Amino acid sequence: MKDMPQDALAPRIVARLDALAAISAEAGAITRVYLSPEQARASALVLGWMREAGMSARIDAVGNVIGRIEGPVPGGPALMIGSHLDTVRDAGRFDGPLGVVTGIACVAALMREGVTLPFAIEVVGFADEEGTRFATTLIGSQALTGALAPDVLDRTDADEITVREALHAAGFDPAAIGRAARPAGAILAYLELHIEQGPALERAGLPVGLVTAISGATRLAVTLTGEAGHAGTVAMAGRRDALAGAAACILAVEARCTPEPGLVGTVGTIQVASGAVNVIPGRVGFSLDLRAPEDRQRRIALADLAVTFSEIAEARGLTLERVVTHDAASAPCDPALMARLAEGIVAEGYPVFRLPSGAGHDGMAIAPVAPIAMLFVRCRGGVSHHPDEFASAADIEAGAQVLLATLRRLVADGLSGRPHAT
Ligand code: GLV
Ligand code: MN
Ligand code: MN
Repeated sequence: MKDMPQDALAPRIVARLDALAAISAEAGAITRVYLSPEQARASALVLGWMREAGMSARIDAVGNVIGRIEGPVPGGPALMIGSHLDTVRDAGRFDGPLGVVTGIACVAALMREGVTLPFAIEVVGFADEEGTRFATTLIGSQALTGALAPDVLDRTDADEITVREALHAAGFDPAAIGRAARPAGAILAYLELHIEQGPALERAGLPVGLVTAISGATRLAVTLTGEAGHAGTVAMAGRRDALAGAAACILAVEARCTPEPGLVGTVGTIQVASGAVNVIPGRVGFSLDLRAPEDRQRRIALADLAVTFSEIAEARGLTLERVVTHDAASAPCDPALMARLAEGIVAEGYPVFRLPSGAGHDGMAIAPVAPIAMLFVRCRGGVSHHPDEFASAADIEAGAQVLLATLRRLVADGLSGRPHAT
């Protein structure tokens, strides 16, 4: 890391990202799913870093790691800085942890400057944003706002372990997760720094960008049931092959989404029940993840695909079951808070480049209860959810300094800022 000033934040941030990346369920890859032993180890590490930065730190009833520095009123409302500590399978090292460790580094720097806080500041490492294990998402941040649907506890992972059972096995009380919910007004505002996970900043030649809104998303678990049979003896005509039906559905998703700007649909998992090389697939489950910047656009596509899936199932003699496992409206960032983040960007000498987020973030869950704003850091090639995910130390430094500059302003002038002379 050459040419970094003495007080640069990136060296420590990068070292901590490396430390977290070493905690994984798989050797040579990064996989840390919700309520896994790896997650517990990562949480313990982050807890220590928060304490080292002068915060009181705890793990809440659903597994979120929360560090806090009190303001003038103990227990009073807090400015929250957050992102997530869980990962997809074979993940990169930046998606999620970057926002948590940068938040800790910025709060530590702010405290070193000896500022007096007009409100509390919290840094949160959310426990489940990716939804990798239970095919849902945002369990950590939804529990924190009190919006977690009770039936999430009945969701199962690939080994048929429910969220309830997994909580219990990880040492949490499933009956007590309501305690993670913060009272109304507890969050003054929410800031999240995250890698872009797309190519816009790289194309613009900029290290940081200001997020305008987070795309809404709907996730489905779809099951097609036909009839299993002998691959050698059952004639092709009249087969009720559930996997061939699923293939038709997957291509229908691609055909529906491809021509429409902004709309993206992905079938990321598929399971053939009792699959074997010489058996006609009788039952197949697959996931669908559908996103668009506009909720109306997503709803229309979802309704269209429901009709298409039914037609495919009917034509092939299959029964169709669809379960919505996640549904989040698009979350606009708060104009006033964006303006404060924009001041931080300008203060660090960068132009304010605005861009939407196609990826989901914990801020989506916070948006109904508090103003949110997000800062993106350029990532190489726009690659994410992949081991090649990369943000340079220089770009991380730029992001951290923007966040720190924004925090200084928020602390000095209050959340809404000084009235500007006209
Ligand atoms: C989270 O990374 C998501 O957008 O799926
Ligand atoms: Mn993320
Ligand atoms: Mn992710």
